[in-house]
Amino acid sequence: MGSFLYSLNALLQAQVPDLPEHRVGNIFKPLASPAQWEHDIGLLTIAITTGIFIVVASIIVYTIFRFRRKPSDDMHQEPAQVFGSNQIELAWTVIPVLIVFVLIGVTARVVASVQNASPPKSTLKITVVGHQWWWEVRYPDYHIVTANEVHMPSSPDGTAASYLELTSVDVAHSFWIPQLSGKMDAIPNRINYLWMDPRERGTYWGNCAEYCGTQHANMLLRVIAQPEADFKAWAAEQQKPAAESDGAANGKALFQSLSCVNCHVVRGTPAEGKFGPDLTHLMSRQTIGSGVRDNSPENLRAWVNDPQQIKPGCLMPSLKLTEGELKDVITYLESLK
Ligand code: CUA
Repeated sequence: MGSFLYSLNALLQAQVPDLPEHRVGNIFKPLASPAQWEHDIGLLTIAITTGIFIVVASIIVYTIFRFRRKPSDDMHQEPAQVFGSNQIELAWTVIPVLIVFVLIGVTARVVASVQNASPPKSTLKITVVGHQWWWEVRYPDYHIVTANEVHMPSSPDGTAASYLELTSVDVAHSFWIPQLSGKMDAIPNRINYLWMDPRERGTYWGNCAEYCGTQHANMLLRVIAQPEADFKAWAAEQQKPAAESDGAANGKALFQSLSCVNCHVVRGTPAEGKFGPDLTHLMSRQTIGSGVRDNSPENLRAWVNDPQQIKPGCLMPSLKLTEGELKDVITYLESLK
């Protein structure tokens, strides 16, 4: 059963041409404590229910063959009616009740240990805000805002858990990094908590797990777990103001004259809009459009030219720029390292 589900999962992870981000993290390969505990009770539940299935199915098959009608049976006589057996009735009441209590008990224990774990003092605090259809990621202690990528230290010895506060500005979303932890809803006017301690460095793929509108499926996210020193270096880069690069002056002026500034922040400039992702360090991110495309110059160009072609229904309009304007704006965006 486990290996069948594993192959099914591997199939789902098969790379889709052009959209390599559309991957599903493997729930059968947990790499953080909450995911590990939840994986373990998942397997226990599958084992117990598989046992029940085998017992019940075997009895049914046995009964079908052992008690089927034979040519020698008297067609007009009812079979013996068996009822009122205390032993049998006790057995089929007590055994299922015990099984249910075992399952409730182990589940409650894991739920409690995930929810009651208290953050160590040194923990990294991260606020994740769901938007239609992307994730805003804030680091209050570092005064960093980024999008769709959650950087955190890896935790090879299990001591560097990061704590996430989840909320939403519009509808209910659900934050899910399958290999690191269970799903947690991101709901407006409410803060939910989640923690994760990725054992291995690397990029963990995740999804929005609550239907939230047209582009629900393209609300991808990734956790990038890196050694503490690398995380600190990344944070220091993110804290810097937007890079000033020669040759991008035209694009910068154009960007600031367009409605881009109503929705996007570029720190240290008049661009202070909060509806869309912070672009201060846009080029440091792996994807655009919340994982819908790799962050490459061609994709960025196609995206700015007409986001609706790539992510129909998304809240960014095409600004109908001329070829020349598009070139200048892209030059500017590419300078935001
Ligand atoms: Cu956000 Cu589904």
